[in-house]
Amino acid sequence: MHLLNTIISKLIPYLPKSLTYQFAKRYVAGTSKESVFKTVEKLNLQGYLVTVDILGEHTNSISESKKITNQYIDLYEEIDRKKLKCNISLKPSHIGADINTNIYKKNITKVISIADKTNNFLRIDMESSKYTDLTIETFKELRIRTKNVGTVFQAYLHRTYDDITKLGIKDLNFRLCKGIYIESDSIAINNRTKINKNYLKILKYAFQNKVYIGIATHDTQLLKLIYELIDKLKPSNDMFEFQTLYGVPMHNWNKQHLQNGYKVRIYVPYGQDWYKYSIRRLKENPNMAGYIIKNLFSK
Ligand code: FDA
Repeated sequence: MHLLNTIISKLIPYLPKSLTYQFAKRYVAGTSKESVFKTVEKLNLQGYLVTVDILGEHTNSISESKKITNQYIDLYEEIDRKKLKCNISLKPSHIGADINTNIYKKNITKVISIADKTNNFLRIDMESSKYTDLTIETFKELRIRTKNVGTVFQAYLHRTYDDITKLGIKDLNFRLCKGIYIESDSIAINNRTKINKNYLKILKYAFQNKVYIGIATHDTQLLKLIYELIDKLKPSNDMFEFQTLYGVPMHNWNKQHLQNGYKVRIYVPYGQDWYKYSIRRLKENPNMAGYIIKNLFSK
């Protein structure tokens, strides 16, 4: 299966961009601010919360990093004007982490200021292990000035449980995902069952320690175990939310969460950079090709 995924992921860059968009559009809410807001409004009407992300990463010019920072600022203002139930997720390398730490921190400080001003929230996505220390460091620094910030932890990293338990922050808020980047065995668990075990261990810690947690997974086997944990530990409904990526079929799970009185947030990416971003993701992680094919045949 891995070989087939690798072959497909190598072939996709040779397809015409317009054809690739036919696959990508399921996961991307268009290229403009107008198109993403249409999607956010629709999802809000269906009862879902949203987090919006502008597609892109590894920005290498200061002017570009400032431009993207301003786009995030605009988004917060418009979310506020339109009174949407929507926050923002961003990747450190998209707003300058590859250029230098100062530029990145200056940019993210501007973003958090507007998040605060509009009484909204910023989620700092977690990229590959090269950025883990910087992301946690920035999160801690911003968290001193506001509660309107959270980050993401990846259950596949050996270091994650210790990272979380050593943070020493009261009223912590994080998203828990498995982790999407290909990492070596020395850094990450590379076995699905073991990743799920670590996921549940971290989730249990969150439920028992008043952490607000975004439970981000599409893995229905894992979701069954998460429901068992919720039944056992009975965390308050306002201390967690389920999160899924826009376009990934959830086989009624998201509707079921809503019916159970649980919050569900959909991660909605959009932007001009959809092509570059999708192709890079595919090259880095050929299993994505398998997901796309599987989802094409799924309702
Ligand atoms: P698993 O990998 O077992 O997937 C279960 C099923 O879900 C697959 O069989 C497939 O059908 C479907 N699926 C999963 N991911 C898909 C995708 N991308 N496209 C299409 N179908 C897909 N990672 C990270 O490193 N840093 C981050 O900040 C985030 N942020 C994030 C936010 C949200 C809301 C979600 C849901 C996920 C992330 N991730 C992430 C990605 C995450 O780490 C992980 O790689 C994917 O969610 C896949 O893992 P699952 O838990 O879904 O299980």
